[in-house]
Amino acid sequence: MCYAIPGKIKEILNRAVLVDYFGEERRVLNEFDNLAVGDYVYAQGGYVIRKVAVAEAEDVLAAWRELFFELREVDLRLSGGVDFRREKTDPALGRILDRAMEGKTIGKEELLELLRREDPSELDIIFRAANFLRQKHLRNACCVHGILEISNHCSEDCAYCGISTRPRGVSRYRMTPEEIVQAAMEAVETYGFKALVLQSGENPGYSFRELANIIRTIKEKAPALIFVSFGEVGLDGLEELFAAGARGLLLRFETSSPELYAGLHSKKELETRLAHLRRAYEIGYLIATGSLVGLPGQTKEDLANDIVLARELHAEMFSFGPFLPVPGTSLAGYPRVREIDMLKVIAAARLADPENGKILVTTAFETLSPDARRKGLLAGANSMMLNVTPVHYRKDYTIYPNRAHEKDDIADQIEGAIALLKDLGRAPTDLGI
Ligand code: 5AD
Repeated sequence: MCYAIPGKIKEILNRAVLVDYFGEERRVLNEFDNLAVGDYVYAQGGYVIRKVAVAEAEDVLAAWRELFFELREVDLRLSGGVDFRREKTDPALGRILDRAMEGKTIGKEELLELLRREDPSELDIIFRAANFLRQKHLRNACCVHGILEISNHCSEDCAYCGISTRPRGVSRYRMTPEEIVQAAMEAVETYGFKALVLQSGENPGYSFRELANIIRTIKEKAPALIFVSFGEVGLDGLEELFAAGARGLLLRFETSSPELYAGLHSKKELETRLAHLRRAYEIGYLIATGSLVGLPGQTKEDLANDIVLARELHAEMFSFGPFLPVPGTSLAGYPRVREIDMLKVIAAARLADPENGKILVTTAFETLSPDARRKGLLAGANSMMLNVTPVHYRKDYTIYPNRAHEKDDIADQIEGAIALLKDLGRAPTDLGI
């Protein structure tokens, strides 16, 4: 885990460097050839993203030093002090939590058992256990990626989605390469984002050469860790985008149930989606994946399978969000999932991957429930995304209606996020100047 603070290089290894953050050492992959011991760098997702001038680094570190340790204290206080052994009433639940605390792998049946719990005091224990494990393994680091929705053109007919080919009246946009680079530069230079997700519908009309150029230009002009999220780009497409400098792939498998998947996508098969995710991992992408929670016909067992599948796919980021019914689609009349069910999925994902997982509180969850971020972060989550799309395009990225923060400019979103993180004693890993 790396913070949005410069780290100092302690040692140059073969293709990596050892970086020090206030006494904590991290091994980070290095793709630059001009680094030396004593240099400062920003690192993200396990990669060095850029060198930082000594004076700049020392300024940032001086500003952070005290706050950094204060935040940790707050987090420790909020996440600890629970004697699970004494509090547990139910032996079956106790065994699962014990196993997680002992570092044993939590399997599908155990996840299912957690997801089935309804008793509020048991759920409270599950959420606190998830939060405890998050703190124990990953301390107070919280990912804050920026997401840039470059186009809402889409060739797919996903039944749940408001920008698929099905709903009528979607006003389509495609940002020009110059607009994309400009928005990315603003996010990185003006606002201090260190990781950006570029997202669009599938086949939005850019050539691979254009996309590759966009990625290269962003990395040159405004170095950041770049995730791509353009749906299924083909296995060769994954290679091309990686070669251009993308290092993360955000691609949900949406559901691990082949039957559910088939009912929601007339042109697609689950296997193709999984083939992309598996290939992406082989290529070296950081994987961000997950599913929709509360799909019509989805069972708790499906959800337990979803969590296990995300882990099997080597998710470094678990992205589970509620399905929100979209007017004008065939699923318009279905109910929304309960907040508590989303929190259960977040906590279960944390118990499934206590040591490494970045577990996201999605914007969809915030749209479902105003207090989602705080509750999610206290139930095992340690990741969020802020929208850095130019405001006038956002209203047309209608994957679901009334998206949270749709009208908030970037500065306001940052202010809100940082205030909450401070309150909870968390430090952003990838936001800050
Ligand atoms: N509700 C919530 N999330 C949705 N997505 C698409 N449609 C909806 C919806 N109605 C999600 C999908 C996709 C991501 C970009 O948006 O999971 O992967």
